[in-house]
Amino acid sequence: MKELVKMSINIHIFFTIFTIFLALVNIYIVKKCNNYIKMTKRVELFTPLYYLSLSILIFTGSVILAVYKFHLKSSVFLMIVASLFIIAGAFKTYQLFKMTRVKDIVSQKKFRDFAYKKYLLDTMLLIFTTTIALSI
Ligand code: HEM
Repeated sequence: MKELVKMSINIHIFFTIFTIFLALVNIYIVKKCNNYIKMTKRVELFTPLYYLSLSILIFTGSVILAVYKFHLKSSVFLMIVASLFIIAGAFKTYQLFKMTRVKDIVSQKKFRDFAYKKYLLDTMLLIFTTTIALSI
C-alpha cells in the first residue's frame, strides 16, 4: 500500500508539472501563432492533451485521497476547487473556439483573448496550488 501511495504521489507531482507546461504551451499558441489555420491545428492537438494531463492529475489525486480514507485537508480541498475551476473555464473556451469556425476576425480575436486569460489564470492557479501543497 505504501508503494502505491508513493508511486501515485510521484505521478501526481509529475502531471502537476506537465499540466503547467501544457498551459504555457497553450498560452504561446493563442498569443504567438498568427496564422489562423496553424493556430487551429495546434489548439486541436494541445487542448485535449492539456485536459488529458489534468484528468490524470485528478485520477491520481483521487487514488491517494481514497487510500487516505477521504481525509480532506485544506491543501487537498484547494486542489479540488482549482481543478473544478479549470474545468468550468473549459466550457466557455470551447464555445468561443467553435465560433472561430465562421472565420471572421472578431470571433478569432474573442477566442484568443479569452483563451489567453484563461490559460494565464490556470497557470497561476496551478503554481499557487502546488506551492501551498508542497509547503504544508
Ligand atoms: C490543480 C490541480 C492539482 C495540483 C496542482 C495538485 C498538486 C499536488 C501536489 C504538488 C502534491 C504533493 C504534496 C506533497 O507531496 O506534499 C499533491 C498531493 C495530493 N493531492 Fe493534489 N493536486 C491537484 C489536484 C488534486 C485533486 C483533484 C485531488 C483529489 C481528488 C488531489 C489529491 C491529492 C492528495 C490526496 C494528495 C496527498 C496529500 C498529502 O500527502 O498529504 N489533488 N497534489
